Amino acid sequence: MVKSVNSHAFIGHSSILAHYWQLINGPAGRKMRPMTAPVIRTVGVPKEIKNNEYRVAMTPDGVREFERLGINVFVETGAGAGASFRDADYEAAGAEIVPTAADAWSQQLVVKVKEPKEEEFRFLRADLTLFTYLHLAAYPGVAKALIDSRCTALAYETVQLDTGALPLLAPMSEVAGRLAPQMGAHYLERHNGGRGVLMGGAPGVQPAKVVVLGAGNVGWNAAWIAAGMEAEVVLFDKNLDRLRWVDQINKGRIVTLASNRGSLERNIADADLVIGAVLVAGGRAPTVVTEDMVRSMKPGAVIVDVAIDQGGCIETIHETTHNDPVYELHGVLHYAVGNMPGAVPHTSTYALTNATLPYQLEVAIHGAAGGCRRDASLSHGLNTVAGLVTNAPVAEFLGTSFIEPLAALN
Ligand SMILES: NC(=O)c1ccc[n+]([C@@H]2O[C@H](COP(=O)([O-])OP(=O)(O)OC[C@H]3O[C@@H](n4cnc5c(N)ncnc54)[C@H](O)[C@@H]3O)[C@@H](O)[C@H]2O)c1
Repeated sequence: MVKSVNSHAFIGHSSILAHYWQLINGPAGRKMRPMTAPVIRTVGVPKEIKNNEYRVAMTPDGVREFERLGINVFVETGAGAGASFRDADYEAAGAEIVPTAADAWSQQLVVKVKEPKEEEFRFLRADLTLFTYLHLAAYPGVAKALIDSRCTALAYETVQLDTGALPLLAPMSEVAGRLAPQMGAHYLERHNGGRGVLMGGAPGVQPAKVVVLGAGNVGWNAAWIAAGMEAEVVLFDKNLDRLRWVDQINKGRIVTLASNRGSLERNIADADLVIGAVLVAGGRAPTVVTEDMVRSMKPGAVIVDVAIDQGGCIETIHETTHNDPVYELHGVLHYAVGNMPGAVPHTSTYALTNATLPYQLEVAIHGAAGGCRRDASLSHGLNTVAGLVTNAPVAEFLGTSFIEPLAALN
């Protein structure tokens, strides 16, 4: 029985991707054939080596979809261990387990989660297609290595739909948003330094008050989970249409408020847990909560600033790690881990790969060039090819010249 992959990931994708979902979800047990022989015949899945990165770029179910199309997958031994997938699970799905990183990296297409680390630069080469999160603006050294190697590099985070949505970033926002109240609840416990408040209160006892800043992918998911824990939830945003949407869905269960200074001051002072989730596209997060507002909070209250990867939206915040996640300032616990989904790598791997799999298949079947020509959203994902930078914002950050992806591919 072929396990069907979450169909939500397909919503909003192009008709080309709809075609792949039909391929993927075709009759059980039948070897499915793409319209043409795949351009790429081998795919490597290396083990992630970044500190505290336990996700993996392909699940055993993903392997099965490639194998059904006649594309062979080579998984480095132990690559899935951090996300609770065994080598045997991959083998059962049809993958070949290979002993070294070099074996996985020597395949035509390499799929990963994080940008290559310096130790991996030696694997980059002109005939390699690499598909992973790259964040080249933050890692100019990686950009240089990709350019020097002349490999073809596609970044998950710059794949972009016509609507402007970023389909390969959204799943991690959803995971981080759902995790935020869980982390907040943990640190509200007395022995973890919090004020000893239970999210759902008790019969006859006031529940925790949770204030969520930003009603986007992170904030909406955070508010939803906090409400599910029976907390009192107040959700702020500047975008009234977004608040209308939340209000209609929740029928008053989540209180929506337009973001302004007075309303923020009153609600922050009264909050047990504040979750930061604002984003201004392409820019640093705005400071929504000032240091004075933090001082006004109750002793033992908790702040979880999910927006920390864009600088954070709380004046007193600085980035923390999974190893050392919280610090106390003005009597308030601050949590600001930059890669929150890393705490739940099993769930995060499924969430990520549900979204990446159709794009990975598209690249394998048509090659990077063919895929980009067929699907504009994928061409936004192309960051470097043959030593050229093919994504305009990335080129601007790097201060290098930009060439249109389709022109570079010709
Ligand atoms: N720490 C992590 O592990 C992690 C994981 C995923 C995402 N993130 C980050 O979380 C942040 C939110 O991501 P998202 O996907 O929800 O973004 P999004 O664009 O879906 O939502 C952001 C929301 O913030 C609102 N907003 C902007 N300025 C505001 C203001 N001054 N006051 C109130 N609302 C305001 C916007 O209207 C929008 O609705 C981003 O910085 C993202 O990078 C962090």
